[in-house]
Amino acid sequence: MSQTESFLDSAQVSQCESDVKRSKSRSRLGLLVTGVVGGSLVALYAAAAPFVAPALRKVCLPFVPATSAQVENVLKVLRARSGTLVDIGSGDGRIVIAAAKHGFQASGFELNPWLVWYSRYKAWREGVHRSTSFYISDLWKVSFAQYSNVVIFGVPQMVSLELKLAKELPRTAKVVACRFPFPTWVPERTAGEGIDTVWVYDTRTFKSHLQQEVTRNTVPQQEDTPDLHT
Ligand SMILES: C[S@@+](CC[C@H](N)C(=O)[O-])C[C@H]1O[C@@H](n2cnc3c(N)ncnc32)[C@H](O)[C@@H]1O
Repeated sequence: MSQTESFLDSAQVSQCESDVKRSKSRSRLGLLVTGVVGGSLVALYAAAAPFVAPALRKVCLPFVPATSAQVENVLKVLRARSGTLVDIGSGDGRIVIAAAKHGFQASGFELNPWLVWYSRYKAWREGVHRSTSFYISDLWKVSFAQYSNVVIFGVPQMVSLELKLAKELPRTAKVVACRFPFPTWVPERTAGEGIDTVWVYDTRTFKSHLQQEVTRNTVPQQEDTPDLHT
């Protein structure tokens, strides 16, 4: 082999080696980019899904935090009361924490784990962790029978929640609805105005309405009842 041929050969070999190195580092970069993009998408999904999921349910209850006027109205209508309180769909925990600061033993049930963890942290930071509890839970899968004060910042289509609460709550309980009234219940009072309005319901009243409704639908009406004496 001449000197020129061997020089050409080694030039080809080193060209080949640097091609391989370039292609290896390109594929490493490709893997890194895919990993970063894929990882970011998974993280974004994990963070966003719990916020979007409540809006896709049968009773759509998205996260919209209460205004400070709304929180004040809730505390105002419950001023004369004490004991246990639950915020159904407790969001970032602001109502539960405010209620605990006013002497209630307050709990929140919330579907979104990020919001529950944040609420627990906020309750600890604000010194009310002993009088608050936050549960990652679907409101349809728990009973609210132990609560004497119930708060919900709900949506207009909540007939099924009316039935659930009428069945579960003790007769002495009060229910406070924020921003939207319950569809068929008659409130005993309201406070605030516009988007900050709250409606207060007495459990004895809506339980007896439900009882009357059930009786009307199960007992035959006078005119339908055959008269056995004629
Ligand atoms: C309108 S926000 C009210 C938040 C809080 N109560 C407040 O007033 O600031 C309704 C909350 O209910 C939660 N939610 C929706 N569906 C739920 C369900 N099935 N069980 C528990 N929480 C639910 C949402 O994630 C959202 O945080």
